[in-house]
Amino acid sequence: MKPTRPFHQTPVITIDGPTASGKGTVAALVAAHLGFHLLDSGALYRLSALASVRYGIAPEDAHGLAKLVDDLHITFREGLAQLDGVDVSTEIRAEEIGKRASAIAVHPAVRAALVARQRAFRKPPGLVADGRDMGTVIFPDAALKVFLTASVEARAARRHKQLIQKGFSANMDDLLRDLRERDERDSTRAAAPLKPAADARLLDTSALSIDQAVGEVVQWYRALPGVQHDGAHGKQ
Ligand code: DC
Repeated sequence: MKPTRPFHQTPVITIDGPTASGKGTVAALVAAHLGFHLLDSGALYRLSALASVRYGIAPEDAHGLAKLVDDLHITFREGLAQLDGVDVSTEIRAEEIGKRASAIAVHPAVRAALVARQRAFRKPPGLVADGRDMGTVIFPDAALKVFLTASVEARAARRHKQLIQKGFSANMDDLLRDLRERDERDSTRAAAPLKPAADARLLDTSALSIDQAVGEVVQWYRALPGVQHDGAHGKQ
């Protein structure tokens, strides 16, 4: 008998949500747990933002940015993000780069230029993809779509901790204001706004530990028809 939901040969789990909702950490751990590849799509937007600073392309210049993104030389190796062969993993995490990433992400031409790069991460045995539009635009046929939420206060506290740990300075009031602004821009832009896919499962992580959130996603995935207990995907 055919499963009720058609599966692509290589399964994808999408984890979308607002900034600092914990999706990056949860996605990385779910991927490690299942032995799946990982796509941190925000890192692609951040790399593009960093490149736009380096090459002096204005955040309003949609055409210039799309061309820049087409020509970007980026690689991910063992969790490190490289631009033009140089590791920039720390630089792209700066708040300024996050803000610029959000600003350039409003342009449909920039988003279109990143589509193929994102889909290329889909390789056996599977992929966990985190971002804003993974379930709605990039992988609409994902086996499991998760939308993570958390209160803005919980997210600001997490982001504060993260930044301090990475050696950046951080102020709670500034972070709260920036998160609200970023949420507003990411969810109201015309192109691929941040919103749960119609078939996404919502997971509020405000009061959950990381392990609990990861456990929930893995359990949801394993309970899907056609998924074997070890996480491998059944034949169609
Ligand atoms: O997830 P992040 O904070 O690293 O993402 C940085 C910005 O990139 C985010 O504010 C909006 C943009 N982004 C996007 O528009 N679509 C994605 N799939 C991922 C990120």
